[in-house]
Amino acid sequence: MTHHADHELAQDTIVVASGRPPREHDAPVNPPIVLSSTFHEAVDPAVGDRIYGRMSNPTWDPFEEALGQLEGAALPALVFSSGLGAAAAALSLVPTGGVVVMPRHAYAGSLSLADDEAARGRFALVRVDVADTDQVLATLDTADLLWLESPTNPMLEVADLRTLIAAAKAAGVTVVVDNTFNTPLVCKPLDFGADVVLHSVTKYLAGHSDVVLGALATSDAAVRTDLLKHRTLHGAIAGPFEVWLALRGLRTLALRVERSQANALYLADKLAQHPALTRVRFPGLATDPGHQRAADQLNGFGSIISIELADVAAGEALVAAVRLWLPATSLGGVESLIERRRRQPGEPATVPEALVRLSVGIENPEDLWADLEQALAPLRPGGDSTR
Ligand SMILES: Cc1ncc(COP(=O)(O)O)c(C=O)c1O
Repeated sequence: MTHHADHELAQDTIVVASGRPPREHDAPVNPPIVLSSTFHEAVDPAVGDRIYGRMSNPTWDPFEEALGQLEGAALPALVFSSGLGAAAAALSLVPTGGVVVMPRHAYAGSLSLADDEAARGRFALVRVDVADTDQVLATLDTADLLWLESPTNPMLEVADLRTLIAAAKAAGVTVVVDNTFNTPLVCKPLDFGADVVLHSVTKYLAGHSDVVLGALATSDAAVRTDLLKHRTLHGAIAGPFEVWLALRGLRTLALRVERSQANALYLADKLAQHPALTRVRFPGLATDPGHQRAADQLNGFGSIISIELADVAAGEALVAAVRLWLPATSLGGVESLIERRRRQPGEPATVPEALVRLSVGIENPEDLWADLEQALAPLRPGGDSTR
């Protein structure tokens, strides 16, 4: 535990210092992995709440403490078996028969999960363009839960988080923000008044593409109790080893995000001038429709770039031709990944077929550019794409 009552620690210190074992002689500096499905009964049943491994595990605690602190939550976060497991718990906050407002573009799994719940009659679903503030505001009168993701996956639309969250709270609407793309280093939605922050820990927080995990953070004790109850009863719990890896990954989050964001800015500028591309979506570009909002509300522009090529064949050819970039889904790892998103069956039809999402990693930016450049060269108008 890190207590520095006289001085508020910066985010890039919290990632390193939080979630450490107590400073005792011979104590380890890193928390151990506890592999136990059950725990000794307390002598006094009023004390001790570990009980059983679906309810808690000591390996979860330091990660939950660190993420809670990073998000500025008054309470420790809750870790789940996946981002989507966390999303299911967050959606359980909606009363049956209620109304959920969701972005038309967002992580496809979250969209499909909400569609599925709506189809079963759990709640009604209203889809909005989150970049269109008036459109979102117009839905709030009848909404129970507003789901936000910004920048959206993979369209990179930027929402006016500050305005939307304030209006939703004033209307008594519960706000859940998927903060996966930003990380708490770039945005702290609880500071804007959001009720719950969601992470696919699989991505930047763990950062090495070696675990699947999710998490929720909240400052509201009653909401946390409901989310914890959902986790315990539905059983979407994390394995201790995965959570230990996530905390290990979190230690370098600030360095990784700094580097991948710098790489993304560098690459986006170059891509914006490339004749083989019809559009580059990246909030860091001054010409991007979300640029000003992102500059005003976020502490960085993220490390995801979406590019559009002439057609599907060109998109597929680019993914097939890269040598350093890895053709794989997912994002937020140290390695750069490339994917034509519409290959995924759940992706909305309004995502262009020829959109290719780049998850920029921490490699040398010149190497990343050289690889893209050689793969894009035959796709230039008049280029030889038959090789
Ligand atoms: C923005 C976003 N939210 C949530 C998820 C779901 O997380 P997981 O794959 O860990 O279940 C993803 C996964 O790609 C994502 O990109």
